[in-house]
Amino acid sequence: MPKVAVVTGGTRGIGYAISIALKDRGFRVAANYAGNDNAAQQFQAETGIPVYRWDVGDYEACATGLKRVASDLGPIDVVVNNAGITKDAMLHKMTPEMWNEVIRIDLGSMFNMTQPVIEGMRNRNWGRIINITSINGQKGQMGQTNYSAAKAGVIGFTKALAMETAKKGVTVNCVAPGYIDTEMVQAVPEKVLESIVAQIPVGRLGTCTEIARCVTFLASDEAGFITGSTLTANGGQYIAG
Ligand code: CAA
Repeated sequence: MPKVAVVTGGTRGIGYAISIALKDRGFRVAANYAGNDNAAQQFQAETGIPVYRWDVGDYEACATGLKRVASDLGPIDVVVNNAGITKDAMLHKMTPEMWNEVIRIDLGSMFNMTQPVIEGMRNRNWGRIINITSINGQKGQMGQTNYSAAKAGVIGFTKALAMETAKKGVTVNCVAPGYIDTEMVQAVPEKVLESIVAQIPVGRLGTCTEIARCVTFLASDEAGFITGSTLTANGGQYIAG
């Protein structure tokens, strides 16, 4: 029986590559997205992967969406919590809305997307939760107190849940990308981005496929002894302990 995987933010950017990579490895994939219907329809036409629209910052929407996926594809074995947003500003210029929205979506989605499926995984004695954090949750980043806090929170969530589920065959891990060639990174002011790339020892931005490869590894049976960990892929920009 093919395993069922849900990828949040799975129709664009890193999520796009993750959805395809999991499908290529034999998973039945559902790609969640928040609002860009055109991109989602194009993705579905290109890949044959079904798309599901809901807001990962909303618990009821997640619970309902996950039920729909399970009734269409089968019980959910893998959740990739990839969806995230940025609202960058120095703290002295950051509004409560910019803070709350990033925390709601980037950190709140961990609870909203995982709590509804975790009991099923425990009962079936197999599961994979893979959370996309960020280099900026590990090292901090000026202009990103909201995002860095949320992404550091993702790592704490991962460690705690890994302890809860280890005996039940459910692993919980993070992937921590550095600066990857996506729309999110291309939105950084050009001069700033140049100075960031100059700090990457590998000498370039990462690719979405390089991050997808980390996810498919953690989703595999062979990664069953790895839990509570953070797999860092940042071209050497920050060597995390
Ligand atoms: N690295 C190095 N220097 C930076 C920097 C960075 N990431 N961000 C800002 N600076 C510097 C600027 O170059 C500038 O320096 P100078 O005064 O010497 O020119 C100074 O900080 C102030 O910056 P701005 O003039 O741009 O000030 P602002 O108030 O208009 O904007 C900012 C500040 C919102 C932080 C803006 O600079 C910005 O968006 N920076 C990028 C922040 C960033 O790295 N975001 C990551 C987005 S991608 C992502 O989040 C994905 C992921 O997981 C990695």
